[in-house]
Amino acid sequence: MGLTAYDLTGRTAFVTGAASGIGRACAALLAEAGAAVHCADVDEKGLSETQALIRDAGGLAATHTVDVTDRKQLGAAVGRAAEDSGRLDVMAAIAGVMHTGRVLETGEEDLDRVLGVNFKGVLYACQAAARVMIAAGGGGGGPLGGSLVTMASGAVDAARSGLLCYSVSKAAVVQLTRTLATELGPHGIRVNAVAPGWVRTPMTDRHDEAHQRRTEAALARMSPLGRVGEPEDVAHAVLYLASDASAFTTGQILRPNGGVAMPW
Ligand SMILES: NC(=O)c1ccc[n+]([C@@H]2O[C@H](COP(=O)([O-])OP(=O)(O)OC[C@H]3O[C@@H](n4cnc5c(N)ncnc54)[C@H](O)[C@@H]3O)[C@@H](O)[C@H]2O)c1
Repeated sequence: MGLTAYDLTGRTAFVTGAASGIGRACAALLAEAGAAVHCADVDEKGLSETQALIRDAGGLAATHTVDVTDRKQLGAAVGRAAEDSGRLDVMAAIAGVMHTGRVLETGEEDLDRVLGVNFKGVLYACQAAARVMIAAGGGGGGPLGGSLVTMASGAVDAARSGLLCYSVSKAAVVQLTRTLATELGPHGIRVNAVAPGWVRTPMTDRHDEAHQRRTEAALARMSPLGRVGEPEDVAHAVLYLASDASAFTTGQILRPNGGVAMPW
């Protein structure tokens, strides 16, 4: 198959969190690889910018203003996307929120918000996409099946003070990914997670600003490569998992983290 395995021409992808940062970079790269990309987010303005970016580069992009914590709204958007494009091959569930706060100060609202977006939002996206793919005979009817890519985080590889809600939500995504991989494999659908290290995005910029520090600089020093990630570093991992290049890969956690953590 060679390099054509990365070619997504004729495929359809749905990307949540596509208005900013990593989600935007993923949407742009999947479109560059040839996919028609459905960009979903709560941020309407950011979505339009992503759409313009993709269209200016000659790609195909549609937008869906969606809150991923709203199961019905998200399900309807995924259904519309599949209907408009005639198929659905890839779900990249990227939308997420950061949260910091020590365990003893963590309240119900924090838990509900962070688990709502980071875990339930990913679960609902995967459920909606898998239903469409299964109804189409597995993976949008494509010869090599469908692919669901979930967003975990390097936070699952370490215990850091102040990151309870966030790391628990991402650990839940890892278990969701493994469980779904076992359940959906027989339907020709692969499920994998990406667990990036620190990536320079509006999210991490806000974090640094709020805490008046450069976490980024400290994490860059921990990487054997001596830098933090860029959204495109993660997008390339997502493209691999979305494409036929990873046809025999499922239930795995891919870590574009600059070598900051090296679990077995
Ligand atoms: N930046 C990093 O260092 C890093 C590292 C590991 C994992 N991640 C994960 O990558 C993902 C993207 O992060 P980013 O750094 O690009 O952040 P970002 O803030 O730039 O982008 C997140 C996007 O998610 C959207 N979003 C938030 N809540 C939503 C909701 N309820 N419904 C729909 N959309 C919603 C936001 O509007 C935004 O466009 C997140 O899941 C994050 O946890 C980021």
